[in-house]
Amino acid sequence: MTTTSIGAYRPLAQAKLEPEIWRYLRDGDDGQNERAFAAQRIYPRPLCDLRGGHTHLDLFGQTLAHPLLLAPVAYQRLFHTGGEVVSAMAAAAQGGQMLVSSLASQPFSDIFAAGRLDNGTAPWFQLYWQGDRERSLRLLQYAIAAGCSAVVLTVDAPIKLATMQLPGEVTAVNLEVAVQPEPTFQGSQVFDGWMAQAPTWDDVTWLRQQTTLPLLLKGILHADDAARAVDCGCDGLVVSNHGGRVLTGAPAAIDALPAILRRIEQRVPVLLDSGIRNGRDAFVALALGATAVLVGRPAIWGLAANGALGVAHVIRLLRDELEMTMALAGCARLADIAPHCLVAD
Ligand code: FNR
Repeated sequence: MTTTSIGAYRPLAQAKLEPEIWRYLRDGDDGQNERAFAAQRIYPRPLCDLRGGHTHLDLFGQTLAHPLLLAPVAYQRLFHTGGEVVSAMAAAAQGGQMLVSSLASQPFSDIFAAGRLDNGTAPWFQLYWQGDRERSLRLLQYAIAAGCSAVVLTVDAPIKLATMQLPGEVTAVNLEVAVQPEPTFQGSQVFDGWMAQAPTWDDVTWLRQQTTLPLLLKGILHADDAARAVDCGCDGLVVSNHGGRVLTGAPAAIDALPAILRRIEQRVPVLLDSGIRNGRDAFVALALGATAVLVGRPAIWGLAANGALGVAHVIRLLRDELEMTMALAGCARLADIAPHCLVAD
């Protein structure tokens, strides 16, 4: 069961999961994000004295052992009976953060308790807009009451293409209505149905006023949207194409990062996900200016293959690979990882 590479968890997970659940997990994973990472070249920088090096960082006042966060992934009891609780335990055991989906399959309070770090920091909450302000606020307040330490509004998936029939025992237990009713509308299902239920920039401005917790937007790929999010008072961004699951032909997240960073001029931390498969990818994202990265499918491969131990092992392997890449590139600290580490185009 134990393996020494993250990639080896993929077939182990596939062997454990029903074909339909495997397809749901894999959906959108067409290799585009991974190829964009692989195209980047890192300069080896030998002969540096790297004693005392580490991967610690401070993010929104939270001290983390490494910049490798678990991305929000819905319905984790599909992949392992321990669900989100065991992912949260693994993240905390590795001294890192986890984002808990609005579509989590276990109570927020259990997940946030399991993911609390030794220094008391609880996981972050990923908010999916609930069709209107009233219902969205109730869900937000429920997550805050359960103890989340930051809020991440995902904005890139108003139309969910990756759907599957959930087994009866797995539901979004924290939502008032676990299965959202199809909206009633006149006109186009897309514009007057789904999009009428989706948040707008006015809602982001409103949401900003509803909490003093750090607020991030997840699913930003255009520099204009990044600038607007910061103008709305957001404390951070997650540059992401949702792991390729929403808009076919969207840019790879890593390719979109430089223009976004140029535009917002370090006003807020920028995180990135989509296609992180090893510690080298994380290094590339940090070299291009990301403050931290989120990992989606690889952590779920670990979860499906071996529960909490699998998730913890995937995080540990990522961190080991990040440290090794840092060492070979002559970087003792995350702050040393910069564009000059990469071969320019
Ligand atoms: C996701 N993702 C996601 N994002 C989000 O904001 N809320 C959610 O509930 C989910 N659910 C979800 C389910 C599954 C099965 C997958 C694979 C992904 C997107 C996720 O947070 C992240 O953006 C991508 O998974 C990152 O890409 P990689 O690391 O999987 O390549």
